[in-house]
Amino acid sequence: MPIVGAWAHRDVRAAFSSCLLDDRLGVMAIHEILTYPDPALREVAQHVGDAQSEEVRQLVQDLADTMYNAPGVGLAAPQIGVFLRVAVTDTRWREEDGVRDLQVWINPEISRREGEVVFEEGCLSVPGIYEDIRRAAAITLSWSDLEGNRHEADFEGFQAVALQHEFDHLDGRLFIDLLPPIKQKLLKKRLQKKKRLSMKAD
Ligand code: NI
Repeated sequence: MPIVGAWAHRDVRAAFSSCLLDDRLGVMAIHEILTYPDPALREVAQHVGDAQSEEVRQLVQDLADTMYNAPGVGLAAPQIGVFLRVAVTDTRWREEDGVRDLQVWINPEISRREGEVVFEEGCLSVPGIYEDIRRAAAITLSWSDLEGNRHEADFEGFQAVALQHEFDHLDGRLFIDLLPPIKQKLLKKRLQKKKRLSMKAD
C-alpha cells in the first residue's frame, strides 16, 4: 500500500538564525539554484577525494544556507553548479520550533533498495511541479561525514525517499525522469516553454 506524503512545498519561510556550521566557518553564502532544463543538472558529479578539505566544508555551508533560504528539505551540489558527490538534507526542520537537524552526505552509496512507496515530490530545480513518484521504501546507505569517517545505516519512509531524490541529482537525474514517458514528455515541453518565456522577460 503506497504512502502518500507531502514534500518540499510546506509553507515555511526561512527565519535566518545561524546555521549549524556558521561558528566553524563564519561565511554565509546563498547561491542561485539551477533550474530545469539547465544542462548542468545532467552532469554526473565526481567522487570527493578529501571530505575534510576546506573546499568541501565551504560547499556544505553553501548548500545548507541555500537550502534553508529556499526553503527546502534537501539540496545536492550540482543544483548550485558544483559537481561533487555532496548533498545536505533536513527532513525534520520546522519553522515553528526553528530547530535544525542538518544532515551531510558525502560520497553516498545505496547498497540495498527494498519495497515500494509513493510520495508526492517536488524539487527546487523544478519549481512549481509536484508529482507522485514511486521509489524504494527502504534503503541501506553508506556515506562519509565532514571528518572523513564512513558510516552505514538503514533508512525508510520519507527520509529514504528524500535521500534517493537527492542522490539522483549526483547522477544527473531529476524526479521528473521517473514519471511515465507520456507525462514526462508533456511536462518537459511545458517547463522548457516556461523557461524560454521567463528568459525573454528578463
Ligand atoms: Ni531535487
